[in-house]
Amino acid sequence: MDQSLAVAAPSTTRERFVLHRALAAPASTFAEDVRRGLSASPKFLLPHYFYDALGSALFSAICELPEYYVTRAEDEILRTKATEIAAAFGPNVRLAELGSGSARKTRHLIEAILDRQPSLDFFPIDVDAGILTSSSRELLNAYADLSISAICGDFRDPAALLRPYLPPSDARTVVLFLGSSIGNLDPAAAGAMLANLRTALAPGDALLLGADLRKSPSILEPAYDDALGVTAAFNRNLLVRINRELGGTFDLASFDHRAFYNAAEGRIEMHLVSKIAQRVLIDGYEIAFEEGESIHTENSHKYDVATLAALAAAGNFRVERRWTDSNAYFADLLFVAE
Ligand code: AVJ
Repeated sequence: MDQSLAVAAPSTTRERFVLHRALAAPASTFAEDVRRGLSASPKFLLPHYFYDALGSALFSAICELPEYYVTRAEDEILRTKATEIAAAFGPNVRLAELGSGSARKTRHLIEAILDRQPSLDFFPIDVDAGILTSSSRELLNAYADLSISAICGDFRDPAALLRPYLPPSDARTVVLFLGSSIGNLDPAAAGAMLANLRTALAPGDALLLGADLRKSPSILEPAYDDALGVTAAFNRNLLVRINRELGGTFDLASFDHRAFYNAAEGRIEMHLVSKIAQRVLIDGYEIAFEEGESIHTENSHKYDVATLAALAAAGNFRVERRWTDSNAYFADLLFVAE
């Protein structure tokens, strides 16, 4: 189903903004996923559910933390290498972005592309229609030669969102997937997601993928366990959300935030650990915790040359270019569809 809302920009007669609502029925609901995850052994919750209004605000705060180098490192790459990256995209491109959010980092690329071609079509994709509309308005005000087709939907099935809304074009499609958001998926699921995306692209189209690189746990771990406790609040907010939306009875103070680097898996893991043996009621059913029992809430995979090459191969892409920040903490890679 598709409900499209067209708004004529005041400054021109040309229509520059359309919002598509890809109202695919979700495969599962918050209530179902919580019940399934907390009934499993070991217990888990899906990181997707961090991002309610408070969770999104806490994530924005995380991006400002001194310990969370991720956002600054990628911003440095996109700021200092934008001209080079746009040149690698080529002479005639259109841009899509999975999980565009505020699209703040994207501005560097939009500007560099508009220095090379007269106009640009941008297809931001986000689950949050509000942020799509507000970020699009700001971009359209800033760039007179930009047109936006915003797509509201869940980017875990990217082909289903892109295929219906990318009209035939002779421009090269470049998809942005920034911030190391891919790192929430284990390697098999990440490969499957890229393979799914690839089916909506033509040979020669491209993906600019942001990937956080492996580094010392002495840098990684504080980034996910900051001194102010913002990441701990972000993690515990899942319990706040269950209490509010599902009538849960979680006592926040009886769960510890734990984040550590699992070197064997190459990932940061976040957990909420019950300090005591306790029972929690949710929607009328009961979940029992032993003392020290954890809920696994997030994986954040970290990459190296070999794991990134494997990811590209799994998606049927080849790695064409790679840009890193001055600390070599983070990389943005140009994957080209085979
Ligand atoms: C948005 C998934 C890239 O893994 O670094 C930040 C989320 N979790 N701090 C990450 C997150 C805790 C973030 N990603």
